[in-house]
Amino acid sequence: MPRTPVAEILRSETPPGAVTVMGWVRTKRDSKAFSFLEINDGSCLSNLQVVVDAAIAGYDEAVVPARTGASLVIQGNIVESLGKGQRWELQASKVELLGGAPEDYPLQKKGHSMEFMRSIAHLRPRSNLFGAVFRVRSRMAYAIHRFFQERGFVYVHTPIITASDCEGAGEMFRVVTMDGEVVKTGDEEFFAKPTYLTVSGQLEGETFACALSNIYTFGPTFRAENSHTSRHASEFWMIEPEMAFCDLMADMDLAEAMIKYLVSDALETCIEDLGFFNQFIDKGLIERLEFVRDRSFERVTYTEAVELLKASGESFEYPVEYGLNLQSEHERYLTEKHFRCPTTVYNYPKEIKPFYMRKNEDGKTVAAMDLLVPGIGEIVGGSQREERLEVLLANLKDHGLEESGYGWYVDLRRYGTVPHAGFGLGFERLLMFVTGVANIRDVIPFPRTPGVADF
Ligand code: 4AD
Ligand code: MG
Repeated sequence: MPRTPVAEILRSETPPGAVTVMGWVRTKRDSKAFSFLEINDGSCLSNLQVVVDAAIAGYDEAVVPARTGASLVIQGNIVESLGKGQRWELQASKVELLGGAPEDYPLQKKGHSMEFMRSIAHLRPRSNLFGAVFRVRSRMAYAIHRFFQERGFVYVHTPIITASDCEGAGEMFRVVTMDGEVVKTGDEEFFAKPTYLTVSGQLEGETFACALSNIYTFGPTFRAENSHTSRHASEFWMIEPEMAFCDLMADMDLAEAMIKYLVSDALETCIEDLGFFNQFIDKGLIERLEFVRDRSFERVTYTEAVELLKASGESFEYPVEYGLNLQSEHERYLTEKHFRCPTTVYNYPKEIKPFYMRKNEDGKTVAAMDLLVPGIGEIVGGSQREERLEVLLANLKDHGLEESGYGWYVDLRRYGTVPHAGFGLGFERLLMFVTGVANIRDVIPFPRTPGVADF
């Protein structure tokens, strides 16, 4: 049964003529001789208005029992709509009921809380908001591949099961058997060493950059941190480009160019969905996205940022002191109040950053960078990598890490080492930024957070 997506019909400049539409009933209104249906098939935000004459085939069997949530096949003709707001409507000639939906269909009314919607994650994509979020998610994934492929970056699939803790934060999920035992083959542990779900594909990504020059990864990552914030998930997707023959400045250039490219692509290709977010989620959204697309970003060193925060006169919950991590409230002050635009903070104290970051000439800082955006804070974290063998070995020691666990990583510095740099973009943080949706749980199809692994 070939069907015509509603998006295609509504986009058409000339009346598309005879079509078969399949979708779910959003609303139904009956008059004496006609029923008016709003049909949504998820291909776009808008519903298709359908007029059904009570005299047509299937009316009593399909249209009379069809309630909100029911699925229908509708054949008919597209004609100019006399109602306002919509150009085309479907005059049905035949209707067939695929699946009814009784009165207890949970999405009857608008205005459910986000918390309630999370409890029906299997049905929430049928709502306007979540349909829009997940269309934008799909488009942004595509745009990310386009951005890198257009620039000649090679897509690398790094492993999900790994033995190394890239960030050195000890926030890894261990891989064990179903009964909680370490997996064994005979007497040996399954992988002959403890293994975990990866927190980052970076270390493996570096090996490929040190062969193919410019690469990126795009896959799921996992963090066993007990954070209950609106910006942390236990499972999230990360995009990690890595460039050989590259320093921190070019790394920051790439991160900024990528954010601009993605925002610009969303404004171009997802404008109907963004319009919905702008109206119902975040009134300043489109203006902010246009600003991000059109204006240049700010850059400050960590040391300068600390000075700005100290001089701000703001009373922060967490202390501001050289050597301490910037908290979300500090990041938001910089982007929302001080600079009023996305801001890249770079050259952080070495003590608060992982072992792989390149030591600067000052001996105190490393060539790290975080790209911060208004409303969220950190969306990208990256660095130039330590390519000098002796310095890397010293870094491992300083961080209390065994060289033996990183033999292959150290080898990259032993054989044909090159300066290289990269970063990680949190995909869900990007989606929060582009949609204005305030909680990370609402941009992930089936979110995983401490205590929650439903569906
Ligand atoms: O700053 P992070 O920890 O950096 C890395 O993992 C590096 N290995 C990346 C690299 O240089 N290749 O994480 C990168 C980004 C953060 O800026 C944030 O956007 C996102 O990943 N992120 C999270 N997103 C959702 N939930 C969490 N728990 C996240 N932790 C990090
Ligand atoms: Mg970070």
